[in-house]
Amino acid sequence: MSSIPGTHLVHPGSLITVDSLTVDEVARILALTDHLEALAYAEKSKLLAGRRIALLFYESSTRTRTSFELAAKSLGAVTTLVSDKSSSIEKGESLKDTGLTLRALGAECIILRHNSSGAPFVLARATGLPVLNAGDGMHQHPSQALLDLRTMLHRLDLAEKPVNAETLRGITVTITGDIRHSRVARSNAMLLPRLGARVILCGPPELLPEEAVSLGEGIEISRDFDAALSRSQVAMMLRIQTERLAGLALDKAQYIADYQLTEERLATHAPNAVVMHPGPMIRGLEIQGEVADCLQSAIEEQVTNGLAIRAALLVRALGVTF
Ligand code: CP
Repeated sequence: MSSIPGTHLVHPGSLITVDSLTVDEVARILALTDHLEALAYAEKSKLLAGRRIALLFYESSTRTRTSFELAAKSLGAVTTLVSDKSSSIEKGESLKDTGLTLRALGAECIILRHNSSGAPFVLARATGLPVLNAGDGMHQHPSQALLDLRTMLHRLDLAEKPVNAETLRGITVTITGDIRHSRVARSNAMLLPRLGARVILCGPPELLPEEAVSLGEGIEISRDFDAALSRSQVAMMLRIQTERLAGLALDKAQYIADYQLTEERLATHAPNAVVMHPGPMIRGLEIQGEVADCLQSAIEEQVTNGLAIRAALLVRALGVTF
């Protein structure tokens, strides 16, 4: 049973928040991802042959949109993209009416990115279709947390271990930067401790309020990046979301001095840690370009894992068994 009120009112193939997933379901999604990746092209491309999937994007995206679209196409599905910039959304059409229109056109699943937290619930309830949350406001980005988990398991040599509450025991993940506005931080902080990880949220008070610790068990807050790094097996960096700062003043030079992941900092405090970033990244702000490109960086693997995880989420959404 889900712990989220109202979750039972949405199609069970939906994925809107990470906390609607049990650890067993996470394990099944990871196993399905492995299974799909091992399939031959001819077999894989029949799984969703002719099924209609709509991508509905109210915010810009490179990785999430492209990987969902390519994943759907690799499974044989037909996709259509509706963007707020070039559709009747610009004329004031509501989310509900846009969803009902896509359903009337035969869409069987909608992938939604929206600037309002909770919008995927509204769409799922209005249409009855499986809805995959591709990021809603500052709330959740569940497919990102799953692809991040898969990347960590592979990089930390844990991919062969059973996925359960002990899989990440002994692993500390430090997530640094603009936690306040980050749906990626929220989803990871809610998922990783359920597999045994310790999560340190790190940043200045403007970007990391003390209340963030209430996201769940296994989470702590640190203002000291070097100390947090020295305890970490994974260093996940986040972009400062200037589009959501809304008047919040930030001294960028001080931020860089205190929180930028530099080659020197990494070598001194976490010479073996896996470096991650969900993207888009701003080289020279939260991360030095040399760090993004170094051998410790798993940033491109995260993107590639996005394709694999999202294929599994589409198969799950449409209830295909094979
Ligand atoms: N990580 C992520 O959501 O990237 P995009 O905004 O490019 O989709």
